Amino acid sequence: MEKSEVNVGLLGWGTVGKSVSKILLSQRKNILKKSGVNLNLTKVAKRTMPVEGQDVDLPNNCLTTDPSEVVNGSGIDVVVELIGGVDTAFDLVTQAIENGKHVVTANKALLAERGAELFQLANQKGVFLGFEASTAGGIPIIKALRESFSGNQIQSMHGIINGTCNYILTQMHEQMTSFNVALASAQEKGYAEADPTLDIEGIDAAHKLSILSSLAYSTYLPFDKIYVEGITKITDKEIQYAKEFGYVIKLLAIAKMTDSGIEARVHPSLIPERSILANVSDAFNGVYLVGDAVGPTLFYGQGAGGMPTASAVVADIIEAGQTAVGGLVNLKTGGWTKEESSEVEISSIAEVKTRYYMRLVVRDQPSVLAEIGQVLGDCQISIAAVTQKDSQACDTVSLVIITHKALEKNMDLAREKLSKLEVVEDDFTVIRIEELDFDNT
Ligand code: HSE
Repeated sequence: MEKSEVNVGLLGWGTVGKSVSKILLSQRKNILKKSGVNLNLTKVAKRTMPVEGQDVDLPNNCLTTDPSEVVNGSGIDVVVELIGGVDTAFDLVTQAIENGKHVVTANKALLAERGAELFQLANQKGVFLGFEASTAGGIPIIKALRESFSGNQIQSMHGIINGTCNYILTQMHEQMTSFNVALASAQEKGYAEADPTLDIEGIDAAHKLSILSSLAYSTYLPFDKIYVEGITKITDKEIQYAKEFGYVIKLLAIAKMTDSGIEARVHPSLIPERSILANVSDAFNGVYLVGDAVGPTLFYGQGAGGMPTASAVVADIIEAGQTAVGGLVNLKTGGWTKEESSEVEISSIAEVKTRYYMRLVVRDQPSVLAEIGQVLGDCQISIAAVTQKDSQACDTVSLVIITHKALEKNMDLAREKLSKLEVVEDDFTVIRIEELDFDNT
């Protein structure tokens, strides 16, 4: 086996496990290029064998129902724990570390309750224990705390770190639905578990806060030291009255350094509706963190779901793999040097497609709009909205046009043609619109 090759074994093959497998199998070359490690998905242990075909094409002989083939398997370098729960997961992770394997886990309850023992063992054995996916799913907040902010004293953290509660509260705020209706909707969308107690009682958020605050303050802050209050007592009346006073109710996980010690608490809070966290909606997560050097920072993204969580798990597998092959691969520059660089086309601005805001100062006379519409139409630009603003002078007006998506080269042509129209008085303004859509289309 080449020095760059790293064998990976998964414990658990639910939504996250399948997504991790998909990324490992489809991104292998890319990961090798970026990180210098060649990841082989070697074993996947699941509770029962599939009776029919699976939607991920695993290598031959990869599936097993015996987790010891992963934690004790002589060829496995990195064990990825995705089974959840505390006791069995603790035994398997302990066994893997005892065997000198690097471990990656997404299990917040495990770390919040028995993290101190696991990290001590990992340190003794000199193995990597990665847990980026345990808190805020795909948001790289663990790496930020462990590495990027190491030179800071963390003054405060305010996190929306339970997507289920955030979805429920958003529904209650925006649709004015009751708690029960919003919870049923969360369950229907697959955000909440069939038994949603861990989410709505604030326990899941407290597990995650235990991890974040332990990292932020370099001291183990176990789950049972955190004050926890869920959202079950929030009624539509609270939401409505809070709204009238200009507030939004969110389940916040808060950690602060104060003169009397570290505050760590999870509870519903009213926050000003103009604040950044008030605009973290639906099942999204957001963490607002203030460091003494860096000042305020904001982390936002998907805190749950197969692929976002797998994104964080795979990043940890790569780091574990780099540790397994000796860390030298950190010297890899992932495409910056000439020999690593791929031949990719850099597309021209002329081919960019966006919506546009246009403001033209035009003569206030008949058929102006028709002339402008004709030019835009000839250039394949479709108008989404038009408004005419008050007269600038006695015989001119500002015409504001919002277009549908159009090619930049077509807009260039339209600008040229419009500037030649007699009815267009002045130079005009064109600004691209970025909708910041979730799907980025
Ligand atoms: N139940 C969790 C949430 C899933 O709603 O955020 C991710 O930890």
